[in-house]
Amino acid sequence: MQNFIPLASPDIKESDIDYVVEVLRSGNLVQGKYVEQIESQLCQNFNYVNSILVSNGTATLHLILVALGIGTDDEVIVPAFSYIATANVVELVGAKPVFVDINEATFNIDPSLIEKKITSKTKALIAVHEFGLAADVTFLKDLCNQYGIFLIEDAACALGAKENNEFVGKFGIASSFSFHPRKAITSGEGGVVVTNDKILASKIRTLRNHGIDSDKRNFNDFIMAGFNYRMTDFQAALLKGQIERFSFILNRKQFIARRYLDEIDNSKLKCPYVPEGKIHTWQTFYLLVNDDLNRDDLILKLKNEGIGSNYGAQCIPAQTFYKNKYRFNVKQEFPSALKAYEKGIAIPIYEKMTDEQVSYIIERINLI
Ligand SMILES: Cc1ncc(COP(=O)(O)O)c(C=O)c1O
Repeated sequence: MQNFIPLASPDIKESDIDYVVEVLRSGNLVQGKYVEQIESQLCQNFNYVNSILVSNGTATLHLILVALGIGTDDEVIVPAFSYIATANVVELVGAKPVFVDINEATFNIDPSLIEKKITSKTKALIAVHEFGLAADVTFLKDLCNQYGIFLIEDAACALGAKENNEFVGKFGIASSFSFHPRKAITSGEGGVVVTNDKILASKIRTLRNHGIDSDKRNFNDFIMAGFNYRMTDFQAALLKGQIERFSFILNRKQFIARRYLDEIDNSKLKCPYVPEGKIHTWQTFYLLVNDDLNRDDLILKLKNEGIGSNYGAQCIPAQTFYKNKYRFNVKQEFPSALKAYEKGIAIPIYEKMTDEQVSYIIERINLI
């Protein structure tokens, strides 16, 4: 048998470590040169206008909501299947998350179900690019414009994803990415907000740093009640080399995904679907088991065969906090999100997997 193949494992090179050590040796651990350098590198490579590095992907979403003035009595539409942070931030600014079921084939919000959830209180829609597949953001942008609500992209898993040849992150008023170690590139904890809106960018920069006026750089004047959501400079330094080799990382993940899609052949499991016009970044390769298989037994079985696997995202309305607060009938209201949550399994997909490891995983899965 192979050595254990974990579900995820970041590929940190010696040259990445050298950048981090350089910062540690310099003594400028926060607000040094790398945060600004990485912000401009991200703008250059992905065609963004403003980018603001912050301490994690949840903080990015929180900053966006606060900067847009979303709070008490407001409603924000979110997909029922996502990582829990997407909804938690809405709760934490005092607004109400209004859940919409997903399309079972793509795991993204089902656009046909959104309109009936829009009320006079709706202020924003958070479109999640689940597992790295672009949501239907062209359509969602038009819909949001039509109703005068903000489109926010939760692109935590989707750096490099595209819809109709345009990078995600460009469709919303502001968008959020995560650099958690399960993502294609990592700073440990970390995230970035991108936005075309200069005024919003400046507000988010100010909120990131205790409310210090980010434009005037007057470190004695606090113009808002802000947070400390800064990223340290050694975390930003860790991103430098990874951004430079990003296209290699993405190509490798796409190659592995292609092999899974072509070679996994087991009627008990359904592979994910990628619609035309979308570039998937494969943060997660997510299979659905049919009724002949128990997902938790499968995770255990794969573990015994040396393969790490796990759940993917959550059916958020089924989590205790949300179920108790809003008294959902989850089965009836969010059947696809519940199915994705109860029947889904994420299998390893990352840059440094060898071809032999990929073949082994395919072989074991086909024998189930
Ligand atoms: C869709 C989504 N949103 C938000 C987050 C939160 O990001 P972070 O873990 O960096 O706070 C994640 C993290 O996995 C995510 O998948």
